Amino acid sequence: MRGVFVTGTDTGVGKTQVAAGLAWLLKKRGVDVAATKPFATGEKFHSKKFKSQDTAILAEAADATEPDDELNPVFFKVPASPLMAAQMLGKSPPDVHGALFPLKKLCIMHQFVIVEGIGGLMVPLTEREFVADFARLTALPVLIVAHPRLGTLNHTLLTVRVCREFGLDIKGIIVNMMPKKPSAVERRAPEMIQRLAGVPVLAVIPEMKKPDYKAVGRLFEKTDIADRLLS
Ligand SMILES: Nc1ncnc2c1ncn2[C@@H]1O[C@H](COP(=O)(O)OP(=O)(O)OP(=O)(O)O)[C@@H](O)[C@H]1O
Ligand SMILES: [Mg+2]
Repeated sequence: MRGVFVTGTDTGVGKTQVAAGLAWLLKKRGVDVAATKPFATGEKFHSKKFKSQDTAILAEAADATEPDDELNPVFFKVPASPLMAAQMLGKSPPDVHGALFPLKKLCIMHQFVIVEGIGGLMVPLTEREFVADFARLTALPVLIVAHPRLGTLNHTLLTVRVCREFGLDIKGIIVNMMPKKPSAVERRAPEMIQRLAGVPVLAVIPEMKKPDYKAVGRLFEKTDIADRLLS
């Protein structure tokens, strides 16, 4: 499979913005790209067409023709990890290997596939399987989205350790939501993350008044992310 698995140090760090920004940029460069969210959960359905808002954003960025069920095969209507959401609904936890089939199809149909995880790597999918297990099944390299705030060194280094423990290849780290006027701690975070993790920080995305994946994509255009992902 050719593509990238976008994970984060936490929920809400900007995985969707980064994944959609990458999809937009690769499409602009003429790459036939698909963007998918295999596991999603949420309080309510986003729209008639897409159960999850993330899938809707990814589908728009990649100009997808596939239906929601193929782009997001697993959805639980409780905003929690898939395991907990399933249990709260009295349902079985997701079939982790089963969720791989639509992804394989996307890989056959497209040149490059961007996969957004759910939450972080140790989010449970079943009693025995975590997002990191699914990432390993995809065999895709990982991109880690982190924030620059206090606590990020701990979260990012933990995420990098888990990648190594699960044998995941790390392409790089994106630091998202850098404030316009960062504190001394926030300003130093990307360099320290890179040094201590031994993984390159490929981009630092500023905090935006109106977050927009196209703006993220334009920012990525000024970096070598696309070349690194396509190499
Ligand atoms: N650079 C940014 N500046 C300002 N707001 C941002 C930025 N990046 C993301 N956001 C906003 O932060 C929120 C979380 O971003 P996003 O949905 O991309 O995170 P996520 O990691 O995909 O979250 P989830 O775990 O729910 O999938 C969204 O409302 C998004 O619009
Ligand atoms: Mg998301």
